[in-house]
Formats: sequence, C-alpha cells, structure tokens
Amino acid sequence: MKGIVLAGGSGSRLYPLTKITNKHLLPIYDQPMIYYPIQTLVDAGIRDIQVVTGGKNAGDFLRLLANGKHFGLKHFGYSYQEGEGGIAEALSLAEHFADGDKTCVILGDNIIEGNIRNAVDQFRLQPRGAKILLKQVSDAERFGVAEIVGNRIINIEEKPKKPKSNYAVTGIYMFDATVFDKIRTLVPSARGELEITDVNNSYIREETMTFSFLEGWWTDAGTFESLLRAGNLVAQSRQKETKPPRVLGQVGD
Ligand code: G1P
Repeated sequence: MKGIVLAGGSGSRLYPLTKITNKHLLPIYDQPMIYYPIQTLVDAGIRDIQVVTGGKNAGDFLRLLANGKHFGLKHFGYSYQEGEGGIAEALSLAEHFADGDKTCVILGDNIIEGNIRNAVDQFRLQPRGAKILLKQVSDAERFGVAEIVGNRIINIEEKPKKPKSNYAVTGIYMFDATVFDKIRTLVPSARGELEITDVNNSYIREETMTFSFLEGWWTDAGTFESLLRAGNLVAQSRQKETKPPRVLGQVGD
C-alpha cells in the first residue's frame, strides 16, 4: 500500500500565520505539523510515501523533508497542486504515483495519539473498495459526518448544520485504485472544490465502504482553536510517556 499526505490549500482559516508559510509547516509542539501524518503512515508499515502540496512555499517541503531518509524511507516524492481545487483534486495528482496500488491517504493537518496499523492491515486484506476511520466528537458540524445504520455507513454529510450522528469522518482514508475514476466523475461543490466526502459517498453507494473507529485522541489543526489543541494534546502525551520520548522521524516501533 502506498501513502499519500495531502498538504495543499491556502490555510486561510489560519491567516496571518499562513501569510508567509504553508499551514503544514507550522509547529505542533516540538515538530512541524507535516511530521505527524508522515509518522502515522510510517508507523502503519507504509514505506512509499508522496506529499501533495502547492502554493508559494512548496519548495520549503523539499528543504524540510528532503528524501525522507529522516523517516527511514528509501523513496519520498512530491506532487504540486496548482490552485485550490480541494482534497479530492489534490489526491487525483497522485494517480501516477499510486500506479494501480491501494492507497492510504491522510490529511496533513490530522494528528492522532495512537496508530492505524490494525485498520491498514485489515484494508490490505479487503478485496476492493475503501475504508475510513471514524471518531466520536462533540462538534460534528465541523466535519464530514457518518450516518450509520446497523453496521453500515449509509451516507456521509459534509459539515451538516444538524449532524445525524456524532461520528466525524477523520482525514484518514484507504482507497482501492478505482478512487481516481471516481474523482473524474465529481463536480465541484458549492465551495468550488472536489470534495473527498463525494468520493467516499460513491464507495458507500457501491457498498464497498468499510469503517473502523480510531482509538486515542484525534484532532485537526486548521483553525486557531484546533492548532492550539493539537499542540496541547501532543505536549500532554509527551508528559505521559514513561519510556524515553518517542522521537518522530524514525521508523515506527
Ligand atoms: C476535511 C473533510 C472532512 C473531514 C475533515 C477531517 O475538512 O472535508 O470531511 O471530516 O477534513 O479533518 P476540512 O478540514 O478540509 O474543512
């Protein structure tokens, strides 16, 4: 399975912090934000990773991450997204990299306490379709929200005013190679973007979407509040660690 980190966008909700740099290069406690999703993929046993980014500061990703050796990786690649076409458009730029393989896609501002290894291993065995990770939250209207009946997701609504559940769809997605055909059928949403929620709903319609629940805390970091929360959660986790601090940028435990 290949790993894709989506790290584009203008970061407008964090302006002026993002006036001169990309959101994903901002600090979360003691590491640049982008280190965390990369480490999440590495900890899940994924060794072939591509970052999709864009904008004026794209070159800084190369300066920071170089060839990925820091994370114990042999190959590390980049795609450049022109403009602000949304998460699904960013993902479409990684089609050549995916080259027919399954992918594990993570949004560059999603930070987790635990790991996704079990879910990734389950998806390796899943013959086709997609898998998403859900987390119960108290502010579901900020996210894609899953409507679950029995043991099936029947729909995902993007940032609903009245959420039908409190199960947020985290920014960690696993897809088979048909994801790129599905993206080609999308039309831009009201905010003018190709939405990852529309991609997920097409898997739900063909009844090939599975899900599991993420353990430990999860946060995004795209607003002032969530950026601060992410830093605090990481700091608290570090304090709780009884063993020597986990050094990001190394092959997982
Ligand atoms: C995106 C997705 C949303 C998902 C969230 C997770 O929202 O559109 O479905 O729940 O990431 O972080 P964004 O933060 O880009 O508005």
